[in-house]
Amino acid sequence: MSDILPQHIAIIMDGNGRWAKAKGLPRTEGHKKGAKNLERVLKALEKRGIRYLTLYAFSTENWKRPKEEVDTLMHLFEEYLAHDIAELHKKDVRIHFIGRKDRFSDKLRIKMCELEEKTKENKTFHLVLALDYGSRDEILRAVSKVSSDVKEGKVSPTDLTEGVFSSYLDTKDLPEPDLMIRTSGEQRISNFLLWQLAYTEMFFTPVAWPDFSEKELDEALTAFASRHRRFGNVEGAVK
Ligand code: FPP
Repeated sequence: MSDILPQHIAIIMDGNGRWAKAKGLPRTEGHKKGAKNLERVLKALEKRGIRYLTLYAFSTENWKRPKEEVDTLMHLFEEYLAHDIAELHKKDVRIHFIGRKDRFSDKLRIKMCELEEKTKENKTFHLVLALDYGSRDEILRAVSKVSSDVKEGKVSPTDLTEGVFSSYLDTKDLPEPDLMIRTSGEQRISNFLLWQLAYTEMFFTPVAWPDFSEKELDEALTAFASRHRRFGNVEGAVK
């Protein structure tokens, strides 16, 4: 196993639909199986001493999917927030949400705010759920807020460094991901953390998210460690 570990892993959990189709099941079964896989992956990360995980669970574009599929996903989020996160809180996990909250049901939005508040002192592990998240949407919201702050004299356009701009993003309190994994064969970023992934290593696996296990995680970690050994700090090398 690798000796150089990423501190923060971000995952595009792709392939739930294809996983289900290959088994002759409805797409929604793929999402249910995908939700079950979260526990396995979280345990594997904790075991290896990785402290931050960001999951792309619902994109700003996912609202366009058939109503039945969107409803199933919303139901899975509600269940996850109600039950699984209570367990995570006991394990000192802090929950963060990135993305818009304004298009969810009141029930879900209230639960999201409650969980962020309830777990805000937890430090052992950080779980970041990207829900109704799109990177362009996040950047536009940040630009809009910066513009208002400039207008109100809170910030000057000449003070706008990368660090200052980062503090307007949903990820303001989080380190940037060191490793981004996308499952199920696609090799695209798909509007995920466009700003934050500027120096991140990428790992793509053909395995669909419901089947993503410790084996694929270790492949990703080994690739990450070997790239670091060869290229050192990529951010430093580029600059
Ligand atoms: C992409 O697969 C996956 C999603 C759009 C949803 C991800 C959600 C989960 C893994 C389950 C619930 C998550 C939580 C946090 C409880 P796809 O449907 O695009 O697959 P396809 O490309 O094969 O069609």
